[in-house]
Amino acid sequence: MRQYNPSKRILVTGGAGFLGSHLCDRLIAAGHDVLCVDNFFTGTKRNIEHLLPSPQFELMRHDVTFPLYVEVDEIFNLACPASPIHYQHDPVQTTKTSVHGAINMLGLAKRVRAKILQASTSEVYGDPEIHPQVEQYWGRVNPIGIRSCYDEGKRCAETLFFDYHRQHKLRIKVARIFNTYGPRMHTNDGRVVSNFIVQALRGQDITIYGDGSQTRSFCYVDDLIEAMLRLMATGDDFPGPVNIGNPGEFSMLELAEKVIELTGSRSKLVRMPLPADDPKQRRPDISLAQEHLGGWTPRTQLDEGLGKTIAYFDQLLSGTQAA
Ligand SMILES: NC(=O)c1ccc[n+]([C@@H]2O[C@H](COP(=O)([O-])OP(=O)(O)OC[C@H]3O[C@@H](n4cnc5c(N)ncnc54)[C@H](O)[C@@H]3O)[C@@H](O)[C@H]2O)c1
Repeated sequence: MRQYNPSKRILVTGGAGFLGSHLCDRLIAAGHDVLCVDNFFTGTKRNIEHLLPSPQFELMRHDVTFPLYVEVDEIFNLACPASPIHYQHDPVQTTKTSVHGAINMLGLAKRVRAKILQASTSEVYGDPEIHPQVEQYWGRVNPIGIRSCYDEGKRCAETLFFDYHRQHKLRIKVARIFNTYGPRMHTNDGRVVSNFIVQALRGQDITIYGDGSQTRSFCYVDDLIEAMLRLMATGDDFPGPVNIGNPGEFSMLELAEKVIELTGSRSKLVRMPLPADDPKQRRPDISLAQEHLGGWTPRTQLDEGLGKTIAYFDQLLSGTQAA
């Protein structure tokens, strides 16, 4: 891995969220000054409260749909609700966050000549016809469905990033993030890993949508953050987009059974209808990341990552950590 200059001023939008808070941890630990910007729509102060005493850390309540004027060297643009329950709550705001947020952050990057990384998503591939997904694949996305505010918002943000790159020579990095899990996920966000774990720990039925044969790949948060840091440190000739995720593929049924085993729960599986536009298969081809990110590869096995995530939720739900 290339050495990361330890004296940068780095803006993390969405820094109080699940991924953003882990990113802030790593950046502070590496000696950077971090400005965490968040409107606390899905993020929480609990995720970053341990950083508040640090003189390297600054927290600003701000909505990225409004312009921001600060002096920074690098920007990680993560602000955007990531789970369907949250992004479908106010779909117009979701599109605004992706599109206006990207315009505002790119405008800022252009003014201060900062390097900027976009947290894009595997959802840009929609319900893919090819498997695993490679970066050259343009995707199959419904432009008018209930997931479109997120999928098309993120696609438009990618367009903006590449137009700023071509038109204004901005140094950009676009990471297409696949399902990531770990401590600090939301308890009630409806994403499958947190759903299953919370249901198992509470002894509730575990909800399987459809027949449970649809597959997902799950990347542990530490592996994802490592890749994002390495991507930001790559040379200006590598804007991406680059898939980041773990290609290990598991069906929903397999995941549910693993969670039951690791929690020792007596929960039963119950079936519910499949939601609209739910992709049947999703798995990253990470060859490009492995080639460009200094030998990066996801290292955390599902059982190990689930163990750490279960321990987090167990503490949270048992009240030893404020919920
Ligand atoms: N977690 C994943 O599996 C995953 C997968 C693909 C892409 N991503 C992307 O990574 C980023 C972070 O995802 P996450 O899982 O940490 O989700 P999250 O919901 O925990 O974090 C998003 C953060 O953005 C903040 N936010 C939302 N709208 C905002 C606005 N208008 N202004 C300022 N802040 C705002 C939220 O309060 C929250 O702190 C998102 O952009 C998401 O699309 C995540």
